[in-house]
Amino acid sequence: MTIRLFAAALLAATALPASALAGTVASPDGRISVTVDADEEGKPFYEVMRDGKVLIARSQLGFNFTDEDPLRRNLAITGETTDSADTRWEQPWGERQFVTDRHNELAVTFAEKDDTPRGFTLRMRVFDDGIGFRYEFADRADHPVTNIAEELTEFTIAPEGTAWWIPAGDWNRYEYLYSNTPIEGVSMAHTPITMRLEDGTHLSFHEAALVDYSGMWLQRLQDRRFRAHLAPSSRGAKVVRTGAFHTPWRSIRIADDAAGLVENDLELNLNEPNKLGDVSWFEPAKYIGIWWGMISNRWTWAQGDRHGATTERTKDYIDFAAKNGFRGVLVEGWDYGWDGIWFGNGRDFSFTKAYPDFDLEGLAAYAKEKGVHLIGHHETGGNIANYEAQLADAMALYGRLGVDVVKTGYVADAGGIISCNADIALPCEGQVMEWHDGQRQVQHHLRVVEEAAKNRVAVNPHEPVKDTGLRRTYPNWVAREGARGMEYNAWGPFNNGPDHEPTLVYTRMLAGPMDFTPGVLSLKGDKDVPLASTLAKQLGLYLAIYSPIQMAADFIESLAEHPRELEFIRAVPADWAESHLIAGEVGDYAIFARKDRNSEDWYVGGVNDATAREVALDFDFLTPGKMYKATIWKDGEGATYETEARHRIAYDNRTVKAGDSMSIWLAPGGGAAIRLQPLD
Ligand code: NOJ
Ligand code: CA
Repeated sequence: MTIRLFAAALLAATALPASALAGTVASPDGRISVTVDADEEGKPFYEVMRDGKVLIARSQLGFNFTDEDPLRRNLAITGETTDSADTRWEQPWGERQFVTDRHNELAVTFAEKDDTPRGFTLRMRVFDDGIGFRYEFADRADHPVTNIAEELTEFTIAPEGTAWWIPAGDWNRYEYLYSNTPIEGVSMAHTPITMRLEDGTHLSFHEAALVDYSGMWLQRLQDRRFRAHLAPSSRGAKVVRTGAFHTPWRSIRIADDAAGLVENDLELNLNEPNKLGDVSWFEPAKYIGIWWGMISNRWTWAQGDRHGATTERTKDYIDFAAKNGFRGVLVEGWDYGWDGIWFGNGRDFSFTKAYPDFDLEGLAAYAKEKGVHLIGHHETGGNIANYEAQLADAMALYGRLGVDVVKTGYVADAGGIISCNADIALPCEGQVMEWHDGQRQVQHHLRVVEEAAKNRVAVNPHEPVKDTGLRRTYPNWVAREGARGMEYNAWGPFNNGPDHEPTLVYTRMLAGPMDFTPGVLSLKGDKDVPLASTLAKQLGLYLAIYSPIQMAADFIESLAEHPRELEFIRAVPADWAESHLIAGEVGDYAIFARKDRNSEDWYVGGVNDATAREVALDFDFLTPGKMYKATIWKDGEGATYETEARHRIAYDNRTVKAGDSMSIWLAPGGGAAIRLQPLD
């Protein structure tokens, strides 16, 4: 049901700032208010107040172009409209089934004072837990193509605080460990970037609905003043658009605490509704794969004695999946192209031709017989020219075989995506290089997602563009990497330190689902390097890091050696009716309570950093009057990620009800997982 309330009265009641037409719009609860205006020089700006205090000080708006004058001064407001919404919509899958969208909107139109046809409308939406705004450009008959050199949107954070951030514009895309510095210590950062201000207010800056535009990095100019820095393009202009268009939404989550940042649907609400219709063919599920073997160097993607993707091994994995209730089996290295140098090159990849020792058709049929689905893999080496030329055939093949999830990959240094000079004509001659989050690659990802959807295939890109909530519009875009995943642990001892995951929860995970690939129960990578994790933390990850497709990443032999942990992994859902962060602080720890979407079971658990701690868990979320059986997997006495004691785990069973509380000890680098089943 959609209720649309018009907020004109509310706006009329608000005091108007300097210029007669300047507008102010407040959040439904009145705590946040945003002013949009132009100063004496006609420079457009916005300002955000919360609880009567300045949160985002006057911050400029505007654009530079490659072929016309900047649009940043000499502007006046020529019109305003208001609107508001109070709706609830349903997700086909997700962290929660229903999402509430309650906001007030103000759209302010700016035009150049000297009577040119230039200008834009700034559409501002204010929610109780954040704001989003975007620029809208009308069609210009005399200048149909807009060539954006830079977007000049600024964000000046008024109070002091600290930030958790990763660098943008460096070679390793989003795959960095997070830095925690004063806000003044940030250089050029990717979004989402998280901040905690001196009064405890939590902020996250990001964007929503990144479509046909370049990804936004945040560049600190001075003090706590940041400006958009769009990912570059080989074309000169960072964004080229024809006719009327709008930018992605620039979003700021605003919350009193860490939980308010996490239980926040701002970017989803700013995205367009589902364009694909019925997507019930996509089933949130868990999977295993012929993967950790290559990541930890025991097997190879390339052909030869140690080739991972053999027919025989895949059958073993299918059998194990069937026996243990895993829906999916990922197989990498099944297709031609891995034998030479494929990193950042990808010219030899075929997406339809299997290596001779891999019987794709036979295995797809074998899987089907066993009630299992192969999960496909398209590594491109960043060569999207080569991939797009084969895309239709590749997706049709998977569609026909019932391979209904595909993991894609873009292994190339940042800025090393290989595209064609001519945007569409394929195959192409002259190649150009693009960024993983530049406009060209943003277009590419949607092409893949749309082609996949035609064939009822869901997509999970690695080395992707960041998530901006497009899963709402394209619900077959189910997960992605876009941060340092589990794989880094295979490549060196404690490569992802113990605070990595409790930082991801409050940073990268605010963007959307991540294919982090938990479940390395052996706690070992290449040459047996140890993970900075206890065994219980490997289970807690299923609750801390959300994805509708969750891997159990270890070798099947290692999974089988841990029957009690496997019991948890078998049980834990990948789709939720509700999700709440019940305890946690940014970078320290995170404990969630999540309710299964398909039963009355609840799950509680999460991850810890390097500091051991005792956490009090309150079970207020349980249905009052019901008793629940709690099955507990927790860090064993003396467990710590630092030594062999990382393998120590303890099990417990008890009965709990709403109103009870329980104290749980989290080891250094530890975690916990609890299953709560109603008794009758
Ligand atoms: C990097 C991905 O993150 C990893 O999961 C994949 O196995 C390799 N690329 C090869 O595609
Ligand atoms: Ca990767």
